[in-house]
Amino acid sequence: MVVKILKTTDELIAYRDTLEGQVGFVPTMGALHSGHLSLIERSVMGNDHTIVSIFVNPTQFLAGEDLDKYPRKDEADIKICSIAKVDALFMPNPNDIYLSDDEIIIKAPKIFGYTLEGYFRPTHFDGVVRVVLKLLNLANPNRAYFGKKDAQQLAVIQKMVRELFMRVEIIPCDIVRDTNGLALSSRNVYLTPPQIEQALLISKSLKRASKDVMSGITDTDTIKDKILSTINVLRVEYVAIVDREFNTLEKIEVGNTIILIAAYVGTTRLIDNIWI
Ligand code: PAF
Repeated sequence: MVVKILKTTDELIAYRDTLEGQVGFVPTMGALHSGHLSLIERSVMGNDHTIVSIFVNPTQFLAGEDLDKYPRKDEADIKICSIAKVDALFMPNPNDIYLSDDEIIIKAPKIFGYTLEGYFRPTHFDGVVRVVLKLLNLANPNRAYFGKKDAQQLAVIQKMVRELFMRVEIIPCDIVRDTNGLALSSRNVYLTPPQIEQALLISKSLKRASKDVMSGITDTDTIKDKILSTINVLRVEYVAIVDREFNTLEKIEVGNTIILIAAYVGTTRLIDNIWI
């Protein structure tokens, strides 16, 4: 099956109007890897039609971040979507998404917008909610699929959907890891082989934290210190232990805890987390 390419918002709206039955939507920034594929496969299995978008959203990048060098692999992505039986691929230009008089701004709430990712990347989540709201309005899906790797993004989007009474079900999808444990990310292409070895410390420290919890350690400062001692060769931005609403925890609550790490390996910023 050859995936239908939709370049403009008008094309997407006209196409969506032809669809009957359940529609699944997977928003991405392209450079698709097995992590994206797992979201796509869930959508294809769970819906009559699947629409994927590829849009490197400028408003969620801060000045000095990797917007210009963000990996773009349109041809390979089109092939992947065709093989995965995606019905339509929406690949708009920034001018299609952001109108010249684009003034109505939705902002991420405080706890998400200005803590952890939001603290180190202020305005990032404003850009995310802005684009995801537009994309969901355009694709008008029954379900939309997001990875747990971007845990804070997932929580912000769930909150937006709840607060704006949007009629879409947000489906959280598990993190996909390489056989060595590295969480898949489009940014992994920046890593050299020695840097991959360093990056693996992140997933190793999370796995060890989960074992520590299973062995009965519940004090979050103790868990954090152990993680920090494993990843101390990296430039760590944060190690955080929060509940599913992103409130800081003093004690691990099994079934309601996320342990998150953001750290630089060379100039590449990586994030990873584990849900406990
Ligand atoms: O997770 C991503 O790839 C992006 O943040 C998203 C959700 C596609 C919005 O640009």
